[in-house]
Order: sequence, then C-alpha cells, then structure tokens
Amino acid sequence: MQKKSLQENKNCKKFYIFTRQYTLTSTIYTATMTRLKSIYYILLTISILSVVAACNNEETKQYRIGMSQCAYDTHWRLEMNRHLIANAMQRENINLLMTDGKNSNEKQIEDIKWLVSQNIDLLMVSPNEAEALTPVVTEVYNKGIPVILIDRKTGNDSYTCFIGANNTVIGEKAADYVGLFCAPGSKILELHGQTGASAAVERGTGFNSRINGKYSEKKITHIGDLYCEWSTEKAKQKMAEYINEGKELPDIIYSHNDDMAIGAYDALKEAGINPENIIIIGTDGASGENGGIKAVLDGKIDATFFYPDGSEEAIKTAEEILSGRQVPKNIDLSTVQIDDNNADGLYGQMNMTRIQEDRIIKQNAFMQQTAMKLNTTSNALMIVISLLGAVLVGLVYISKLHSDKKKSNQMLNEKNAEINAQKEELESQASYLNQINEQLESNKEKIIGSIRYAQTIQSAALPTESDLNYYFNSFVIYNPKDIVSGDFYWYHREVDTEKEIHIFGVIDCTGHGVPGAFMSLIGVNLLDQIAKQRKIYSPATILDELNKSVRAALRQTENNDGMEAVLCKIEKYPDSRIILTYEGAKFPLRHYIKQLNKIETYKTSRREIGGKFRNIESSMQFEDHSLEIHSGDRIYMASDGISDQNNTERKRYTSKRFVSAILNSVNLPMPEQRDYIWNDVSTYMQNCEQRDDITVLGIEV
Ligand code: FRU
Repeated sequence: MQKKSLQENKNCKKFYIFTRQYTLTSTIYTATMTRLKSIYYILLTISILSVVAACNNEETKQYRIGMSQCAYDTHWRLEMNRHLIANAMQRENINLLMTDGKNSNEKQIEDIKWLVSQNIDLLMVSPNEAEALTPVVTEVYNKGIPVILIDRKTGNDSYTCFIGANNTVIGEKAADYVGLFCAPGSKILELHGQTGASAAVERGTGFNSRINGKYSEKKITHIGDLYCEWSTEKAKQKMAEYINEGKELPDIIYSHNDDMAIGAYDALKEAGINPENIIIIGTDGASGENGGIKAVLDGKIDATFFYPDGSEEAIKTAEEILSGRQVPKNIDLSTVQIDDNNADGLYGQMNMTRIQEDRIIKQNAFMQQTAMKLNTTSNALMIVISLLGAVLVGLVYISKLHSDKKKSNQMLNEKNAEINAQKEELESQASYLNQINEQLESNKEKIIGSIRYAQTIQSAALPTESDLNYYFNSFVIYNPKDIVSGDFYWYHREVDTEKEIHIFGVIDCTGHGVPGAFMSLIGVNLLDQIAKQRKIYSPATILDELNKSVRAALRQTENNDGMEAVLCKIEKYPDSRIILTYEGAKFPLRHYIKQLNKIETYKTSRREIGGKFRNIESSMQFEDHSLEIHSGDRIYMASDGISDQNNTERKRYTSKRFVSAILNSVNLPMPEQRDYIWNDVSTYMQNCEQRDDITVLGIEV
C-alpha cells in the first residue's frame, strides 16, 4: 500500500508538470496542425506564410494559478490534486503551478513566496496549520492577489473565498454514528492528524462535544488519543505500540481520516485482535483501491464521512474571480455518511470519475509529448520554410539581378554596336580624309613644284644682279610671301655718248602668290614694251602708259586688279651732272643726300595703276619730279610690304623704322646695308608670318 501511495504521489508530480504546460501544449498542437496543412501553400507563396504566421499569433489571455498544497500525503489529498489537475486541464487559459508543503509550515510558507515570485494571478492554499500560515497568506491577500482557501482555514478573514465542508458537522455525524451503534459504556480511542490543522480541530470538537452532549447518557468514555500525522504507517505504528503497552482496548476508534483508520485496523489485525469487534470510523471517503470507500467495502472500517475536496468548485471560483466577478466569502460543501448501504454504488461511481480523469491526464500527457515533438518538428519546419523563403527571395533577387544584368548587357551591346558603327564611320572618314590629305599633299607638292618652277620663270624676268651693279652699287631685298611674288623690280638703261639714262622701278601688283606673279609678268612685259620698244623714259609717262596697257591687257571693267609703283630715272651727263626724275603710284621714293647725311622722302601720285582708279583718272595725273643728285647719294624704292609688316603685338614696322634702318646703315656698303635692313625687319617681326611680298631696291649713285 505504501508503495502504491508513493507511485501515486509521483504521478501527481507529473500531472502538475503536464498541467502547467497543458494550455501551451494545446495551442502548439493546434498551431502545428495548422502549419503542417499550411506547408503546401507556404511553398507556393510566401504571402500565405505571413497570413499563417499572423493566425498563429492569436492567443487567449492566460492565467497563472498557484496551488500551495500542505502535503502530497493522504489518498484524499492525492485525489484532490488529481481533481484539480483534471479540472484545470479542461480550461484552455489556466496554468496551474502546484507545490508540496510536505506537512511543514516552513516549507509551505516558502512555497507560497515562490509562487508569488512566479507572478501568479491567484493563490489557492490548503494551509498546513492555521496559525503558522496566517501571516504569509494575509500578506499575499493584502498585495491584491486573490486567495482561495481550500479545505483548511487560516486564523483570520484575509482571504477571498473559503471552499470546504463543515468539519464540525463531520465530527458530529461521526458521533451520531457511534451514538447509534455503540453499547453504553463504550470506550473511544481518537486518532488525530495535526493538532494545528483547522480540519482536525473542528472534527475533534464536533465529535467530542456531541458524544459528551447528545450521547452523554451512554456513558461513553474517551480512553486515549493517538497523534498519527494523517498517515497509515504512523497510525499502524502508534496503534501497535498502544496494544503492546497493554493499554485498554477501545470499542470505538474515531479517526480524523481514513488513512489512519486503516493503519489502526492493520495493527489490530497484526496483533491478533479481531477488529470486527471494534467500531472503526474514518473521514474522507476517497476513491480507488487504497481509499476510504474501498476500506468500508472491505470491512476494514465501518463507516467514513465523505469529505469533498472542493477542487472543482475551486477552479470554477478562480475563473469567476479572474473574470472580475464577485464570489461568496464561504462556499460550504456537504458531507455524506458512507457505510455498507452506499459504499458499493459510490465506489463504482467515483471510480468511473477517477478512470475518466486518469484518461484525461494520460491523453494530456500524450498530447503534450506529441505537441513537444510536433513543436520541434514545427520549429524545424519553420526553419526549413524560412530558409526556403529566404532561398526563394534570394532566387527572385538573383533572377532580378540576372535580368537587370541581361538588360544592361543588351543596352551595352547596343551601345557598343552603335559606338563600333560610329568608330567604323569615323575610321572610314579618317581614311577618306587621309586619302584626301594624301591627294592634297600630292597636289600641294605638284602645285608647289609648279610654283617653284614659276619662280624660276619670274626670276628670269627680273634684272640680274650684274646688270644692276654694272653702273651702280645696288642691293635688292626680294622676299615673296608665297614663293612667287606680286612684287617685282625693273631696270632699263639707254647709254650713249651724250648721256646715260637708267630707269629703275619697284612695282607691287594686286595680290601676291600666283595671281600676283601673273600680274608681275604682265607688268614686266608692259614696262619693257613702253621703255624699250617705245622709248618712253619719263617715269610719269611710263606710269600713265602702264596704266592704260594694264587696263587694256586685263580688259578691266569691273575688277580692281592693279599696281602700286615707284619709278625713277637717273640721267648722268658728261659734265658729271646727275639728274633724278621720279614719279610713283602711291609709293614714295627715298633719297639719301650724302652731303647732308639725311634722307628725303619724296611723295608721289596717289593714283594707282589699273582699274581701281579709272574714275579719278582724269583728275589725278602722273607728274615727273626732277632734281639734281650727286655721286654717293643713294636712292631707295620699296613696296609697302616692309612698312606694313607686323610684329607679335600686331604693330607695323612702319616707314619711320624703315627710314631709320636705312639711315643707321647708310655708311655700309650696299650688300651689307641690305643685310642690316633685313636683319632689322626680321628681328622686329620675330616668328610672325610675313604679311605681304617685300621688295626693296637700293641704288648708290
Ligand atoms: C490530508 C488530510 C486528509 C484530511 C484533510 C483535512 O492532509 O489529512 O486526509 O481529510 O487533510 O484537511
């Protein structure tokens, strides 16, 4: 019996654990099934996963109830534990935390403090001993935590609700049973549980006061008290000692619970005393093999008084309180006498309940294990699903990247093709340009070649150096801008015994380069015709004739091609007189007078030769100017190319500088003066491009 009791005790601990996890387990189980069903859909779409997850988050408000048991000792109390657990299990929102006080006040006080530390919403207590437990229970109640006292009371009113049967009445009913069946003068032995427990105190008081009151005439005597701590073993031991001590045997044993009554019965039996001669009365009426009802059926005890444990009412009341509803301060439970008359029916009935409760608890245990497994599986599945989700998201992302890359590659390819086409186009243009360049280059070379050849032709038309220096010392600066020149210088002489006539000229035809060169050849030809063939020696007349001839030669009506020029005639007579006659078309003549060491600049006509001035032809006539000059004097004639030449600051060389250069070098021999003047112009113009053809003719008389 002891062994079985321990086993049941252990089971109760398991129930406690199961009960604590029941609601969670049930939620997880439901959730897991939902998830399992959902997996298929989840794999199809992540959004359904979110919905499922959202659904799984739904939870009913959970309550945590602490149950401080004074002990997991007797069959009655173990049954009470089982009832509490089974009742709690049937509520989805109740989590029951139960502690075993082990019949110790100190232990139970610690238990209650621990339960409070677990943030319980409500405390249920079955106090070990009233006085010792009152302060801690009062403290919890004063904290605002509702307190339900079950079966046993504390010493004050600091509780929300007491649920239990009236133990005084139970004691009185036991006395009524004794009073009815015992013979006058019977002797009573009383077995006590705990002296400080309210149930024990009240049962003893109710029983004894009625024996001594209502049944006093039966002269029933109280021959002893055994204190057996509610335990079968203890009672058996104490009863055996009592017998061994040879004390007077009782006619009635009144036990405050069935466990102790059975212990007394066993002791009597073992001592060889027939227990059937003794009326044994217990209290509790617990179900099952080791409970009080079976003891009645087995004839071990004559009667017991059903002591309802109040577990069902306690859970219901807790729900009411937690829902904010008012509950009565005391809920009285009724008792019933169990004897030969009703033990059988009650036993069967209570066993049915017991079996059902066991089934509930076993199912719950199974569900819990399954739920734990499913929870693990579910967690694993959730991880797998999350991973799959992540992979799916990753794949979508990668595929997006891939398609983006593809698009950008396509764009790049198109761009590349466009660039390549442009490149090819550019290359073909470049090669075309190269061809053109080559063509141009070769054309240029041809043109330059032909211009160079033209230069030799043009040079041939100019007076030779020896010609010029035959009668004079002279120099020529002849620098065409573009190989051939629009400028030219001209010389003609007539020498006889009477006098020498020398005619010099510097002529600048419109334009330079090839067109200028053509004009110059025309000019040379016309001047030769006028002077050599027609023997005209007056500079003014020559210019006049040249003008007519140019216009005639060029058939000028609209174009302005013409010439600027300066001509001079030097006549040497046998008496050594030297007469200078000059005229020009815009260009002046410079005369270095050796005796005075100065340069005179003689202006000439403002007319030009050629078409440009046809309209003013009549108003401005060429006119000769004559003066006597002397040996050693120098005459300088130049085109405007020299004075118009600019430097890097775009400033002209000017006639003034030209005259200074002449004056600065006038004592030098003619060739060196030439170098001096040209060097001065070159230094001035630095790297600037030559603007026009430059021609200077210097003659020393
Ligand atoms: C167990 C127990 C029961 C008894 C009850 C009274 O501890 O002794 O057997 O009926 O307590 O509170």
